Amino acid sequence: MSLLAVSNLAKHYRRGGKPFAAVDDVSFEIGPAETLALAGPSGSGKSTIARLVSRLLEPDSGRIDFEGTDFLALSGARLRARRARLQMVFQDPLAAFNPRATVARVLDDPLRVHGIAPRAERPRRIAALLERVGLDAGLTARAIHEISGGQRQRIAIARAIATRPSLVVLDEAVSALDVSVRGQILELLLDLQRQERIAYLFISHDLGVIRAVAHRVVILDAGRVAESGDARTVIASPQSAIGKALVAATPKLGRTSQDAS
Ligand SMILES: Nc1ncnc2c1ncn2[C@@H]1O[C@H](COP(=O)(O)OP(=O)(O)OP(=O)(O)O)[C@@H](O)[C@H]1O
Ligand SMILES: [Mg+2]
Repeated sequence: MSLLAVSNLAKHYRRGGKPFAAVDDVSFEIGPAETLALAGPSGSGKSTIARLVSRLLEPDSGRIDFEGTDFLALSGARLRARRARLQMVFQDPLAAFNPRATVARVLDDPLRVHGIAPRAERPRRIAALLERVGLDAGLTARAIHEISGGQRQRIAIARAIATRPSLVVLDEAVSALDVSVRGQILELLLDLQRQERIAYLFISHDLGVIRAVAHRVVILDAGRVAESGDARTVIASPQSAIGKALVAATPKLGRTSQDAS
C-alpha cells in the first residue's frame, strides 16, 4: 500500500489577471521508505506541490491520501497529529528558523508542540537527535545564525525527524550546500531512510543528485507530469522533450560511485 497518494492535484494562480495552472492534474504515489524525486525546470510547480502535500497551501482540486487517511479532509487536532508524520526541510534553514533561536530551542519546539516528551526528558531527547544527525551535543546553546550552513541543514533534518515522520518533503534541501557537505547530508538522509524507514519526496533540479538518491522520478513541465519512472532508467533514456533537455543540461551524468554498489 502506498504511504502517500496524490491524485489529480491542481492549483491555479493568477498572472496578469488571468488564472494559470501552477500544478495541473498531477498524480503520483510514494511507498514506505521510498524516495520519489520531483524534477523539472524553474517554475514547473515543484515547490507548489511540496506546499500542497504539506498542507501549507490548499489545492483547487485533487486528492491526497496519507497513511491511509484523506489528508485534505483533516483539520484541527487531527490535522496537527497527522502533520507530525509529514515533515518538511527547505533549501534555506535560516529563512525557516528564527536565526537568533538557539539549537536547543529549535529542537525543543517539535517535542513540546507534539507532546513527544515531557520537559524533564527533552534535553536528553535533543542530545540524542543531535547525535543522530552527526552533531556535537555542545552545539545546543549556539544560535542558528552562529553555525555553518551544513550544520544548520543537519539541525533542520534533526527537527524534521524529531516527531518520527514517515515522510519528509525536501525542497532543494541540499542545493545551497557545497559539494562535499552536500555529499555528507545525502549520506545522512540515506542512512536515516535505512534505519527508520522514512520516505522522501525529494525535490531537486540536479539530476545527478536525484540519480544518486531517488528510486523513482517524476519530471514536471509547466505544472504537468511530462514523464515518470525508475530514476536511473528515466535519466539514462528520457522520453519527454523536457526530460531530454534536463539531461542534456546536466554535465557529469556519467558513472558515479553509486553504480559500483
Ligand atoms: N504565490 C504565488 N502567486 C502567484 N504565482 C505563483 C505563486 N507561487 C508560485 N507561483 C508561480 O507558480 C509556478 C510554479 O512555481 P513553483 O515555485 O512551484 O516552481 P518550482 O518548480 O519550485 O521552481 P524553482 O525550481 O525555481 O524553485 C511559477 O510560474 C511561479 O511563478
Ligand atoms: Mg521551488
